[in-house]
Amino acid sequence: MSPAGLVVLISGRGSNALAIADAVAQQRLPARINAVIADRPADGLEAMAERGIDTALVERAAYAKRADFEQALAEVIEGYAPELIVMAGFMRVLSRDFVERFDQRMINIHPSLLPKFRGLNTHARALADGEREHGASVHWVTCELDAGPVIANAPVAVQADDNPVSLAARVLKQEHRLYPATVALLLSKPVSQRYEYFSNQKSLRLDRDFDDAGRWIQHPGG
Ligand code: GRF
Repeated sequence: MSPAGLVVLISGRGSNALAIADAVAQQRLPARINAVIADRPADGLEAMAERGIDTALVERAAYAKRADFEQALAEVIEGYAPELIVMAGFMRVLSRDFVERFDQRMINIHPSLLPKFRGLNTHARALADGEREHGASVHWVTCELDAGPVIANAPVAVQADDNPVSLAARVLKQEHRLYPATVALLLSKPVSQRYEYFSNQKSLRLDRDFDDAGRWIQHPGG
């Protein structure tokens, strides 16, 4: 059986996309990246192309209307027939039509412990609020920004001398562990059960529910 195909959507440096590509190459993640697609010229596209992964640019700026851009993007995605669409730093809010077209097949990573700090500047906001714990979450994409059911998160302790840059760097390191581990977790369930199962359980924690290699530990009775 060929491994599950992924399409990864990016807008920038693509370090999470790269972490997923590494996990695939090291066989920690039984999947294939069918393509990486960006909505603007992005450093991450070049890095992925250098690894021999298909890349595509569907530039938002090339379309006057959002609906036309989304239609073009959807067609490129569908051409790669992914089992999961993995948004990794894709800086765009998608319409209801688009989300429904890929309903229950789209996930995103967000740099906060959702439901806290949806939106931008999460690290600065966490510090301003005096949070002792911050982190990152992987969630299903719905029409509302950063609001879909959370699948798994990675907590990061805030240190007394943290600033937004130092905190972001530690969170990003955990994102690079969390995202491949969560994708592997999702692919461990058949597509027909995946969304339902991983929307209705308490969100998993990277430091408790996964081993060092990123494998899901199923706790007895849990
Ligand atoms: C990450 O912090 C991710 O959580 C957020 O955007 C950033 C993307 O970074 N959604 P990269 O492009 O994966 O390096």
